[in-house]
Amino acid sequence: MARTCLSLILAAGEGTRMRSKLPKVLHEVANIPMLAHVMRVCSEAKSDKIAVVIGKGSELVIDIVQKENPNASAHVQTERLGTAHAVLAAREAIEQGADDILVLFGDTPLLTPETLTNMRNVLAEGVAVVVVGFYAKDPTGYGRLLEDGDKLIAIREHAEATEEERTVDFCNGGIMGLSGEQALALLDAVDDNNAKGEYYLTDVVEIANSKGLSVKALEAPEAELIGVNTRNGLAEVELLWQNTARQKLMTTGVTMQSPETVFLSADTIIEPDVVLEPNIVFGPNVHVKSGAKIKAFSHFEGAVIGENADIGPFARLRPGTKLASGTKVGNFVEVKNAKVHEGAKINHLTYVGDAEIGSKANIGAGTITCNYDGMNKHKTTIGEGAFIGSNSALVAPVTIGDGAYVASGSVITEDVPGNALGIARGKQANKEGKGDEIRARNAALKAKRSAK
Ligand code: UD1
Ligand code: CA
Repeated sequence: MARTCLSLILAAGEGTRMRSKLPKVLHEVANIPMLAHVMRVCSEAKSDKIAVVIGKGSELVIDIVQKENPNASAHVQTERLGTAHAVLAAREAIEQGADDILVLFGDTPLLTPETLTNMRNVLAEGVAVVVVGFYAKDPTGYGRLLEDGDKLIAIREHAEATEEERTVDFCNGGIMGLSGEQALALLDAVDDNNAKGEYYLTDVVEIANSKGLSVKALEAPEAELIGVNTRNGLAEVELLWQNTARQKLMTTGVTMQSPETVFLSADTIIEPDVVLEPNIVFGPNVHVKSGAKIKAFSHFEGAVIGENADIGPFARLRPGTKLASGTKVGNFVEVKNAKVHEGAKINHLTYVGDAEIGSKANIGAGTITCNYDGMNKHKTTIGEGAFIGSNSALVAPVTIGDGAYVASGSVITEDVPGNALGIARGKQANKEGKGDEIRARNAALKAKRSAK
């Protein structure tokens, strides 16, 4: 039978160095909170249960925990007395029992499910404690992993380490796996007899060894274990996240002319054979289908871009935009909450909001759907193959029928029936010979003014 797993995420840190009103673990990487990254990694590693330890007054964190996974539990650590004390704040979750217990930090968003799976595999071999370590370029401040052969003997916190122990560069990345059977006994045996007067989670290593249990260290790349403490650290982690995501996309068949200028969200979906020009921002919830071409300087949120669509340069797609296959959205066009059917074109300088545009319709330059009356939003419906002349204002609610024309410069306030021409503008009148008369009048005025 498959082993069960409880992931316990420590997130009670105050994050003072972020200098923020927002709890540290809610700061975002790739447009989702760091804590959500860690929770997703737990789910991807098939963790049955997730328990998050939070500080007091962290209602915002509880909301994110619930939103991210309704089955996850939140446990408040009222006093910060150390990492082992934090783990025991979730005693209730531990008591419910699991074969594998993984202790993770909420501020390490680059963690991968592979590392958690590797930890679980080690526990499945009958190991009581597994610690994830990395070789640090600068080990200062980290707990040092003291090994004897393939046995992990102790983790020595920097503050307690001797000069010799400080030369060890194999460091504690902070995440630990515990056998569910042993976890509570090990944790309850931790005391606060050390330099900081804290209950160190790392002490379970020596406690387990003294009980004759097996303890091992597992190596993971340093980048995966980076904990964010400052805004600078947040930017560094964002950069690493983006680089990994860009590389992954290209291996799946997406062309990126200048990958370092394309910004992705955690949930961005881009299908193979999409071509991305430089400088594109993918906000949350965007799906680009195969064969679409996205030209430079475009910004998207909450949008679906259909197959072979031709978007940008300088296109802005806002939430609720659904572009069918073969659509065109050109420069300085904003689309919001609108369904654009196959092959329709919105090529220049246009705002389309709260609308439905029929297949093969052509929306002329400078068209505006006037969707807002200052209090309410209204819908514009444009039929199949309709042609909207340039510089038209469509005052919603309004419907333009299939195959209808709207004359350029019209302000349309009433529905235009299918196949009709709607024209709503001042009628043009030409006055023969007026040019000379106007010039003479203007010249006289100018002479009068300069005489003063
Ligand atoms: C810890 C490890 C150290 C490791 C390092 C890796 C211990 C004793 N030391 O040290 O070996 O090299 O991480 O980054 O575990 N937390 C709580 N409640 C508490 C204390 C901490 O929730 O009472 C949370 C913090 O918010 C943080 C995490 O636990 O996310 C680690 O705590 P921190 O105080 O930063 O531990 P380090 O001294 O960095
Ligand atoms: Ca730390």
